[in-house]
Amino acid sequence: MGFLELVSRRQSCRKYLDRPVDRGQIERCLEAARLAPSACNSQPWRFVAVQDPALKEKAARAAFSGIFQMNAFAREAPVLVFLIRERSKYAARMGGQVRGVQYNLIDLGIAGEHFILQATEEGLGTCWIGWFNERAVKKVLGLPWHVKVDLVISLGYSAEEGLREKSRHGIGDMSEVR
Ligand SMILES: Cc1cc2nc3c(=O)[nH]c(=O)nc-3n(C[C@H](O)[C@H](O)[C@H](O)COP(=O)(O)O)c2cc1C
Repeated sequence: MGFLELVSRRQSCRKYLDRPVDRGQIERCLEAARLAPSACNSQPWRFVAVQDPALKEKAARAAFSGIFQMNAFAREAPVLVFLIRERSKYAARMGGQVRGVQYNLIDLGIAGEHFILQATEEGLGTCWIGWFNERAVKKVLGLPWHVKVDLVISLGYSAEEGLREKSRHGIGDMSEVR
């Protein structure tokens, strides 16, 4: 599959089959994330992939209850991946302050998308999830209060059929070639 086809195939999956994902598949996605670039090569990320059914159920319930219920679909995903944002190296933090850019957020996004595109290549469905109960997740996973769990990726075989048409700005509206 060419890269543009891979990117076109990736779409948010909000319905999953009750079919387990191989550990090898998860590890290849993690490898793709590991190879991502980052400001000053800080690699300010940690990925916690939860596939143990009991722990995943607990984490899912914690993450997607109450006001976060709109993402309850993710409870059905066989794997939930929690993306932890760490501090960038000193030079990247200082440079970021001068520039007014938070590089570790950008880095986390790039690494997460690497993970997701490898998952797409593996024939798996994913969804980025930013709306979840971070505090409750940290409690279930035994993470200290100061850790930043910024995002979740749900992962599993898709139960959705076909590809949706992408709703995006036109290329002329989002870019120019000078
Ligand atoms: C940082 C980020 C956070 C997101 N949070 C959620 C979320 O909480 N729930 C959800 O269903 N989708 C979430 N999405 C998915 C977007 O809604 C989706 O990517 C967008 O509508 C484009 O659709 P597509 O992914 O199918 O191409 C998130 C996407 C990103 C990049």
